[in-house]
Amino acid sequence: MNDYQIEMNLSQSRKQKPAFDNLQFGRNFTDHMFIMDYTEGKGWHDPRIVPYQPITLDPSATIFHYGQTVFEGLKAYQTKDEQILLFRPNKNMERLNRSSARLCMPQIDEELALYGLKQLINVERDWVPNLEGTSLYIRPFIISTEAHLGVSPSLTYQFIIILCPVGAYYKEGINPVKIAVETEYVRAVRGGTGNAKTAGNYASSLKAQEVAGKSGYSQVLWLDGKENKYIEEVGSMNVFFKIDGEVITPELNGSILDGITRDSIILLLKHWNIPVKERKISIEEIYQASKEGKLEEAFGTGTAAVISPIGELFWKEKLLVNNGETGSLSKKLYETLTGIQNGSLVDPFGWRVLV
Ligand code: COI
Repeated sequence: MNDYQIEMNLSQSRKQKPAFDNLQFGRNFTDHMFIMDYTEGKGWHDPRIVPYQPITLDPSATIFHYGQTVFEGLKAYQTKDEQILLFRPNKNMERLNRSSARLCMPQIDEELALYGLKQLINVERDWVPNLEGTSLYIRPFIISTEAHLGVSPSLTYQFIIILCPVGAYYKEGINPVKIAVETEYVRAVRGGTGNAKTAGNYASSLKAQEVAGKSGYSQVLWLDGKENKYIEEVGSMNVFFKIDGEVITPELNGSILDGITRDSIILLLKHWNIPVKERKISIEEIYQASKEGKLEEAFGTGTAAVISPIGELFWKEKLLVNNGETGSLSKKLYETLTGIQNGSLVDPFGWRVLV
């Protein structure tokens, strides 16, 4: 047992909940949030659960100007017997601390964060949807709050957790998306912040997404920032290819996010004795494999969408993957991973954590 003290200030009124059979991603937030403050010299203090509400910051707060902020994304699921499960939440808290270290932000006590999250979910149990494909999306984040325009690490921060019931991230769901290979913009470079989950990476990705969207593509496939040759990620997800029976994914190189879904997929494939390799993958290799009829499947992986099959890839010309259909491995991975997550399948890895 721990001796964490979390102050509870619960809301007098409750919001109208959205229809759980028609949830949009990230639009409806629950009644409460977790919050704690950091002050240099004092550390993290005053962990509390309070009504969901706007936060007031000084206009000169460093977050607005220099983007010193990190975030995480994970999900809670309701099982058939009304238990609530988290999926590898310790991995998210560890990564939050790794991201913070890159952004010169203070480390949190991972156990306290997880304890606070469980307390918050317990308050919001009614908000965890139980329909197929739904879950409670959890967004922990840290912002720098010091009122100071000098470019230096903030001396004060806030750690906040907000929750929202969600359905599919992409309107396509598990149906294949059309992806354009991005040859002008890059997402991240070696030595940059690509492997930290920080706002700037996402802000800088918007332009390419906007341009691709105008040509009818859902997302872009990111290439490396040095040679514009090696594949890094797809949209805001990690990416996998199945070529001639073997599954490959770009190796972590400092500019690619260390995805928890990515890691889970690799472990699942190994568990099934399906060959899987993390290595450098050039876009030329994928093009050639497609031309030779060896590109069997391609898919993105992330917490929000879980698996997002790629049905079409544009590089030099339009390349269809698996005739534009969802591949059998993508489907099996999606069904197995979501089954482990929502409690309908056994969890041979011990990934689930009961709230
Ligand atoms: C995820 O796939 O979970 C992401 O990181 C996308 C998120 C920023 C909505």
